[in-house]
Amino acid sequence: MLKNKVVLVTGASSGIGLAIALMAAREGGRLVLSDVHAQAGVEAAAMIRSQGGEAIFVAADVASASDVETLVAQTLERYGRLDVACNNAGVGGAAALVADYPLDAWAHVMHTNLDGVFHGMKYQIAAMLATGGGSIVNVASILGMVGFDSASAYTAAKHGVIGLTQTAALEYAAQGVRINAVGPGFIHTPLIASLEGNATLMAKLVAAHPMGRLGQPNEVAELVVWLASDRASFVTGAYYPVDGGYLAR
Ligand SMILES: NC(=O)c1ccc[n+]([C@@H]2O[C@H](COP(=O)([O-])OP(=O)(O)OC[C@H]3O[C@@H](n4cnc5c(N)ncnc54)[C@H](O)[C@@H]3O)[C@@H](O)[C@H]2O)c1
Repeated sequence: MLKNKVVLVTGASSGIGLAIALMAAREGGRLVLSDVHAQAGVEAAAMIRSQGGEAIFVAADVASASDVETLVAQTLERYGRLDVACNNAGVGGAAALVADYPLDAWAHVMHTNLDGVFHGMKYQIAAMLATGGGSIVNVASILGMVGFDSASAYTAAKHGVIGLTQTAALEYAAQGVRINAVGPGFIHTPLIASLEGNATLMAKLVAAHPMGRLGQPNEVAELVVWLASDRASFVTGAYYPVDGGYLAR
């Protein structure tokens, strides 16, 4: 589905981003994996190459505009173009009520989860326009649509990602850049590892998904790869949940 497309994935060292990068490579994409944490990303890129694919790893902190500018520049240097970008890097943040939410934790979540997507699109769109278009998929969350106790910064940032996605999609629809967001339900990744020790909370989370289970990273990657591909040629400005029915209640 992504044959010969140059695909950039942020947060590609772990969880959903890693699953997206590996699936995109299997679908024929030429990959740039990026993350603040290098080791797993470097290993994933090496594995893709050992299987005959094309991949490089570039370290970047999405909260830094200059890191992201350099990341896109290195992509262009390596491959000469950018066709697909997935702004996936994110953090969970503190668990606290609004009145108790620590200021530094709020800033960290907003810089990573919202500013990070803005930085990504700012430089990715410019690169895509130079070659006639492309496709961007932003990883939001079910918590971009509804609230969740003790996760104010995360919820606010993810709502922001959806609004930003819609506005950017409107701005560039006529120039061939499609921009969409996906909204995973709770997915088994290191991001929710801290919750997995709490059996009562986990039972509540499982019960909140009508399918009676949490999701797997590959189940999100399937949707992202489709949205990224030309098969989604008439899809832009949309938000797609991939949540086992969480938002249907
Ligand atoms: N796991 C879930 O339940 C769930 C649900 C909905 C949405 N999401 C979203 O999916 C995305 C991926 O999360 P995941 O569950 O795979 O988590 P994860 O912790 O497994 O992976 C996140 C990756 O992002 C990287 N990262 C964090 N801050 C970064 C920064 N400033 N710059 C670059 N990279 C950075 C981390 O190093 C890590 O490799 C996030 O945006 C998250 O909010 C996750």
